[in-house]
Amino acid sequence: MENPDSNLALNPKRAHNNPLMLKRIGLITSGGDSPGMNPAIRSIVRTGVNLGIEVVGIQNGYQGIFDREFMPLGVMEVSGRIRDAGTILSTSRCLQFKEEKHQIEAIEILKKENIQALIVLGGDGSLSGAAALSKLGFRVFGIPCSIDNDLSGTEISIGVDSCLNTIVHLIDMIKATAASHNRCFVVEVMGRNHGYLALMSAIASGSQIAVIPEFRYDMDQIVENLTRRRLRRHNNSVVVVAEGACSGQEFMDRLKKAGGEKLQQEVRLTVLGHLQRGSAPSFADRFLASRMGEFAVLALNQGEHGSMVGLLRNRMNLTDLNEIKDHRPPLPADAIRLARNLGMEIGVPSET
Ligand code: ADP
Ligand code: F6P
Repeated sequence: MENPDSNLALNPKRAHNNPLMLKRIGLITSGGDSPGMNPAIRSIVRTGVNLGIEVVGIQNGYQGIFDREFMPLGVMEVSGRIRDAGTILSTSRCLQFKEEKHQIEAIEILKKENIQALIVLGGDGSLSGAAALSKLGFRVFGIPCSIDNDLSGTEISIGVDSCLNTIVHLIDMIKATAASHNRCFVVEVMGRNHGYLALMSAIASGSQIAVIPEFRYDMDQIVENLTRRRLRRHNNSVVVVAEGACSGQEFMDRLKKAGGEKLQQEVRLTVLGHLQRGSAPSFADRFLASRMGEFAVLALNQGEHGSMVGLLRNRMNLTDLNEIKDHRPPLPADAIRLARNLGMEIGVPSET
């Protein structure tokens, strides 16, 4: 078969690049859902159908393997799903899967079902699970799906763009009411250990301050900044707080304590919570998910496995699953510089 992308050319250095006749592959969505999982499922199924490979959806993440929730997927099962949020396969957190004995059991079940390879859609935890299966000799392939954008091997994961669009839209709405009441809002956004969502959404919403886990902040300076804005008659201020840095409530408490009388402005809190994950996938996510889904099937069919597809410089790219595990990408340096040049306060890197 023709290589769909020059970087999909079989790499002779990868010992396991050993094509086999693919007839039946499994597919799971695992960990936190992200907008774009459904377009990726659709693309995998349609590409599989086109190549004569049967695609079996496994429900509820890794848990579905033990519960034997196998569901053959054809064109009709994915019809119309490109615009849907969430995942039609459902997802879960399956703690027992972290133990090797259960991983071995899962491989036995997959083999009994004649599943020759498994595509895993998920974040860093789910892809660690995929790496474990690969180490035990099963053919797996990863697709990065996480709103947190905390995976190395790809500049962006599926779901990030939709999630950022939602956050920016919601902050725009908060700013409208904040301005009417001359208020300051603390907005807590997701990002378990990573400040990407907070940083990027703060830039794109024109917020004043981003509190992110990677950086230390100086509360006195934040109080100073907010007071200066009030004195200059700005009618609203927004502080975006990444949940990985601290909870919005914790930040509010510290702000009120440090600000005291000086602040002279009502401060309110909005926790955006799971609204951030629930939007329909954006154009960018539909396109990215379609590309990655297609690429995963083509790559497996050419003998590739033990790797994850990523987007680097607008091209599909392969990274070994073991390199992704425990390797969080740094925040983009140009976004940090941009934030500062736009007058946003983000603190200083924690290690300095
Ligand atoms: P995400 O994939 O969104 O990061 P989690 O970190 O909760 O979500 O992981 C999802 C699932 O992946 C876990 O419930 C578990 O089944 C599996 N998993 C997570 N970490 C590991 C690991 N180190 N080894 C094996 N499986 C794992
Ligand atoms: O990893 C994605 C993520 O959305 C994190 O940003 C967040 O902390 C977590 O999942 C929330 O997960 P749950 O659905 O279990 O509340």
